[in-house]
Amino acid sequence: MIDRDALVAAAHGAMMAAYAPYSGFHVGAALLFADGTVVTGSNFENASYGLSLCAETVAAARASHEGHRAGLIAVAVAGGPGGVPGAVVAPCGRCRQVLHELAALGGTDPLIIATGANETVDMRLSALLPLAFGPANLAPQVSPL
Ligand code: THU
Repeated sequence: MIDRDALVAAAHGAMMAAYAPYSGFHVGAALLFADGTVVTGSNFENASYGLSLCAETVAAARASHEGHRAGLIAVAVAGGPGGVPGAVVAPCGRCRQVLHELAALGGTDPLIIATGANETVDMRLSALLPLAFGPANLAPQVSPL
């Protein structure tokens, strides 16, 4: 059971911690695991612009570091200029791949909840990243542990 409102609220809260002095575009992501754990992240930009990290990537790396590598069931994303939501924000291409790595470790296909000011779009990660390349391509037995 996914508490959508709580997960979206967590993404909004995470957005407040964004470090985005260059783009001014603040993003927050909240990852929900099957055991109820929620791990959040926000974008972390860099003066060397191309090194900036997206919110979803920060959240995924944080989850792995904290030992949450299996059971990713949902991801909420919120963002906008100056932290004010406008158009729907969905994970960028790189983040889709990063999320796939984490999801594949537990064999889940998480629901991606992309939010905007007036609209929310729900899509499975597999629909956002069809024919994904992942751990199974390299080693069928990769373990989340
Ligand atoms: N950004 C994210 O954090 N997640 C996304 O899914 C899209 C883009 C960030 C990257 C950069 O810091 C800023 O938004 C503008 O692209």
